[in-house]
Amino acid sequence: PAAVIVAIDGPSGTGKSSTSKAVAAKLGLSYLDTGAQYRAITWWMLTNGVDTADAAAVATASAKPAIVSGTDPSAPTITVDGVDASGPIRTQEVTSKVSAVSAVPEVRTRITELQREIAAGAPEGIVVEGRDIGTTVLPDADLKIFLTASPEARAARRSGETKGADVNATKEALIKRDAADSGRKTSPLAKAADAVEVDTTDLTLDQVIECVVTLVEEKR
Ligand code: C5P
Repeated sequence: PAAVIVAIDGPSGTGKSSTSKAVAAKLGLSYLDTGAQYRAITWWMLTNGVDTADAAAVATASAKPAIVSGTDPSAPTITVDGVDASGPIRTQEVTSKVSAVSAVPEVRTRITELQREIAAGAPEGIVVEGRDIGTTVLPDADLKIFLTASPEARAARRSGETKGADVNATKEALIKRDAADSGRKTSPLAKAADAVEVDTTDLTLDQVIECVVTLVEEKR
């Protein structure tokens, strides 16, 4: 079959990453975590003394780091200037700064280019997860999924992932980040008009995976 391009968007805590990796592995497709790329560029800014609140400084520096994503769904990797960044990009500090960095147009242009190159180079096809994949990065994707879930369910999932995290604090941080991502001018978090919306609030991860696999198979 021809290469199939699947775009999976939605706010944090909807099961995007777990679903996307599992669907890609089941169907023999590549996988790209675009949030990891925005986290990686944010981590580079923080470690190189760039003030992440200064959009002009972020724009100027945005071309500097070399960001390379490995697309094997069973072992996705990300390096920044040749250094493995998979651990450091998940810290609270990066999480709290990433929305400001990813709102800078120069950052989005640069990362979007990388994303399109990776998708075009995936022989069997690829599952790409993010916020603006169906709307901006890959508007011609074969299948677009928009995952949602109640704020309570999303916070509970996220605090389950983070040791010792308080559910209420997690919920507030999530809501704040989603509001910033949805409210930015350039390529905000949004459901594409032709995306299939899946509310995962009352579904198990396996049910969501099964649902998306079926939708992909219908397109192949
Ligand atoms: O998916 P994850 O929570 O790791 O994404 C981190 C952040 O990266 C998001 O909160 C958002 O600011 C940014 N992002 C984006 N566009 C994407 C993917 C992520 O702006 N396609």
